[in-house]
Amino acid sequence: MKIAIIGAGNLGLSIAKGLIINNAITTLYLTKRNTQNIADWEKYKEVIITSDNKTAVKQSDVIIFAIQPRHFGGVLHEIKGLINEKHVLISTITGFKIFQIEAIIGANNSIIRSMPNTAISVGKSMTCICSNKKGEKQIELAKAIFDRLGTSIEIPEEQMQAATVICASGIAFWMRLIRATTQGAIQLGFDSEEAHKLAMNTCMGAASLLIESGKHPEEEIDRVTTPRGCTIEGLNEMEHQGLSSSLIKGIVTSFNKINQISKD
Ligand SMILES: NC(=O)c1ccc[n+]([C@@H]2O[C@H](COP(=O)([O-])OP(=O)(O)OC[C@H]3O[C@@H](n4cnc5c(N)ncnc54)[C@H](OP(=O)(O)O)[C@@H]3O)[C@@H](O)[C@H]2O)c1
Repeated sequence: MKIAIIGAGNLGLSIAKGLIINNAITTLYLTKRNTQNIADWEKYKEVIITSDNKTAVKQSDVIIFAIQPRHFGGVLHEIKGLINEKHVLISTITGFKIFQIEAIIGANNSIIRSMPNTAISVGKSMTCICSNKKGEKQIELAKAIFDRLGTSIEIPEEQMQAATVICASGIAFWMRLIRATTQGAIQLGFDSEEAHKLAMNTCMGAASLLIESGKHPEEEIDRVTTPRGCTIEGLNEMEHQGLSSSLIKGIVTSFNKINQISKD
């Protein structure tokens, strides 16, 4: 597949890394205005680095946009004359709606809107995608790309803001929970390196149990909570202190904020 990533920053390079590791590309254009700090990516034989977005678009079939929202309109205007039927356009830009993209380049192009997260660099992104009418036929192609970089699902565009909170901001939420568990483990006597390892891998084990068994979390909780035991006592204390409630409130607060930002 000939892919161009327009905007080789944090997310763009994470996607690039995932695509390279998974041998998902024949050529991969990486663009940014100042290419100096990504020069070492040319060590990969498929990668071409350039600040020329137009060349990248002309030479590629799938164009992934990973620039900041304020630059997106300008870049779309810059390349719109070069987009044809063969191109599949994939936007990762937060808050930029499909109708806004169509308003610049027209509705007769395949447009996919996606919301990945930074775990894409290790092939573990939870990515939500949706498309315009013309892009419906290309949804499977987009899913195939994102499934190589983790797991993807198609959702209605109205749920994209909610997906941003759960999946993109969600990385930060889970990191904080892992950090808190690490702090607890240090208090129980583990050194910080051990504590971090215990926290990370227990978190991964818990998620893997659910992914592989398809079970509800409460079923797995039942398996480890002996009546009158230490687990239920600790868990109930966490709930008395507002564990579930504070997570839900934080998620709703983030959602309100993202809606406010998109109104402004
Ligand atoms: N980070 C996340 O977890 C995440 C998750 C989902 C979605 N997103 C979305 O992904 C987008 C990128 O986020 P990010 O964190 O990766 O931002 P970032 O690190 O700032 O990367 C954006 C890149 O775009 C380049 N750029 C700016 N203008 C350009 C132009 N005209 N042509 C080509 N490249 C240009 C910048 O480099 P130069 O200044 O050198 O040009 C920069 O490297 C945002 O819209 C964000 O909403 C991010």
